[in-house]
Amino acid sequence: MQKNTPTQNDPGTQTKPPIPAAKKTHPKKKNSHKHWHLEKDDEGIAWLSADRANAGTNSLCAEMLDELGEILDSIAASALKGLVIQSAKSSGFIAGADVKEFVGLNNIENATHLIRRGQSVFDKIETLNCPTVAAINGFCLGGGLELALACRYRVADEDPRTRLGLPEVRLGIHPGFGGSMRLIRLIGAPQAMSLMLTGRTISARAAKKLNVVDYAVPTRHLSNAARQLIQSPPAVHQPPRWATWLNHRLLRPALGYYLKKQVSAKASPKHYPAPYALIGLWVAHGDDPKAMLAEEAFSAAKLITGYTAQNLIRVFLLQEKLKGLAKTAKGKKEIFKRVHVIGGGVMGGDIAAWCALQGLQVTVQDRKQESLAKVVQRAHKLFKKKLKHPRIVQAAMDRLMPDVEGLGLRRADVVIEAIFEDVKAKQNLFKEVEKKVGPKTIIATNTSSIPLDEISTALKNPARLVGLHFFNPVAMMQLVEIVTASVTDKTVAQRTAVFTKQIKRLPLPVKSGPGFLVNRILMPYLMEAVVLESEGISAATIDKAAVDFGMPMGPIHLADTVGLDICLHVAENLSAALGGDVPKKLRKLVEAKQLGRKTGQGFYKYNKGKPEKPSGAKNPKPPADLTDRLMLRMLNEAVACLRESVVDGEDLMDAGIIFGTGFAPFHGGPMHYLQHTGVDVLYSRLEELASRHGDRFKPDAGWSSLKETG
Ligand code: NAI
Repeated sequence: MQKNTPTQNDPGTQTKPPIPAAKKTHPKKKNSHKHWHLEKDDEGIAWLSADRANAGTNSLCAEMLDELGEILDSIAASALKGLVIQSAKSSGFIAGADVKEFVGLNNIENATHLIRRGQSVFDKIETLNCPTVAAINGFCLGGGLELALACRYRVADEDPRTRLGLPEVRLGIHPGFGGSMRLIRLIGAPQAMSLMLTGRTISARAAKKLNVVDYAVPTRHLSNAARQLIQSPPAVHQPPRWATWLNHRLLRPALGYYLKKQVSAKASPKHYPAPYALIGLWVAHGDDPKAMLAEEAFSAAKLITGYTAQNLIRVFLLQEKLKGLAKTAKGKKEIFKRVHVIGGGVMGGDIAAWCALQGLQVTVQDRKQESLAKVVQRAHKLFKKKLKHPRIVQAAMDRLMPDVEGLGLRRADVVIEAIFEDVKAKQNLFKEVEKKVGPKTIIATNTSSIPLDEISTALKNPARLVGLHFFNPVAMMQLVEIVTASVTDKTVAQRTAVFTKQIKRLPLPVKSGPGFLVNRILMPYLMEAVVLESEGISAATIDKAAVDFGMPMGPIHLADTVGLDICLHVAENLSAALGGDVPKKLRKLVEAKQLGRKTGQGFYKYNKGKPEKPSGAKNPKPPADLTDRLMLRMLNEAVACLRESVVDGEDLMDAGIIFGTGFAPFHGGPMHYLQHTGVDVLYSRLEELASRHGDRFKPDAGWSSLKETG
């Protein structure tokens, strides 16, 4: 499934006050620019605060970098005791480069020039002849950390919201402003490569352990720690001796080979070239900082102008777009505090735990006490994994209250129903819920297939009911469909999107209809895989074709993971509403109680949760149209959903399918892939498939309008 992107905040921080922005020192002379403020204090220390104009977060745009270059020139010309670079924003230090400026970059020469310009600014920091310190609070990512690495010292606020990292590989690139070279030089290649190749972010304390920062201190000591480093500058940190040995030109190829092997288990070089480029860069130039810097710029430029990076940047911006949908009316900031979940099964239990993890007070109701006991057990496991510290885990446990009698209903801001998928049961429940909740409480259902109009007839005011469709597993799947029927109150839907963002999930507004958006598009793809398997093609061959296309997991493996009973239920619903057959093999397996991973046997046999895939001897040569049969069924359904306005436009379609199904992110989404490959090309392939395999491949009527606009 789609991994969290670098901007996904850490859980458990929802209700905390903003991080205090950098403390004002005692300015002797203040010098304001558009994006930076420069203050010099009585001790001769310059305090330079990043404060990007008209933005809540510091992201480095070209203008901000140019201005920084000019300021550094003036600092270089004056006699100073030292320079501290900090942030004036409560959102943190610097969250990275402004990726919007990378969109559409297609000329390597221009990109190299742009990156070298950034490098030259950071070089100016490094060559200042006074001590320099980055005082870091909140996010310090990508270009932000590269800037900090150009300083002689770094101190970081040990508040849990401080996160440091170089997550560029997640955008299909690697650090380009000198970060690769400087991080390796500072902490040694093994640790630096591990950080850059995974793109993971670390806390201030972890950064101190790795010596990425010199000190991790409480917020109130941040400025003083920076001042101290300038007053009595210690020796600059050096990597341990063993790491220096590993940087030797004779050893680098062997370690490089090992790193490539590790990376290839997660990402293919064809789809994700950035980590391989970074390893190559280090193997070739790891002991020559000058050459490494020059090649770093060129390599990053090559990547950023490529297909993968441009599409991963698109995915990042789509994520921002989804977050942007959760806007409240001007001046009306709404914060949800109490959630009541009804149904403590697979979904209800996990939704309740997730909401408590995000800082909300949660009551969870079920008819069975034992279901609630399981909810609490599962929640504890999740909190321990995510929050680690026993005191914080306990605080999260205290926020989650089992509630057999449903006492939490009356005070809830949001009620989420997640009982059995039975329309009568849901209607009866909502009749009671509506009587007990306050007038502003959001009333939501997690139904995965029942049309909202059907459930809402039970309410006195049907406009109040909204769909809040989470995906399984809740803690991993970022997307939540906000389902509305024609009667649904728009304000209710909007507030539900705000709630979704508050619990750090991505809201996608969709129209109520069979399977809503994600299941409707996923199911033809899964069913085609079952048909292919029934035709005698091995499950492993089918899965390999999808993974080679770029899907995170093959369709047969996915169906087994979701549960074949759930797949059958959704497939039957969809075929009843939209036509089409449900493959016999699926029914047969469900009747035999071979439901997939959860029963240890589905299409695959499972051993400790892992499928046993026989080596592909059965189908040495898969049919030439295998990948098309899988992917074009998905694309054809996407076109149908667009025609029916299930979702508002191609961008939201792409966002929904990437975050809801893990659709190959480096293709930028199904519609983006479709437009890139060519509407006419794919239309003809569908017609060919229809003539060979039947009407299920018949191009949807929506293709004609795509042809016109395309
Ligand atoms: P489940 O069978 O695991 O859990 C249902 C729970 O509801 C049971 O613990 C049951 O005791 C309780 N319950 C039933 N009637 C109740 C009532 N009147 N009052 C209080 N508790 C009651 O079901 P699951 O899988 O969690 O599904 C719940 C809902 O979520 C369904 O609408 C389903 O379509 C939807 N959904 C399921 C997904 C999945 O992968 N399982 C994915 C997305 C949505």
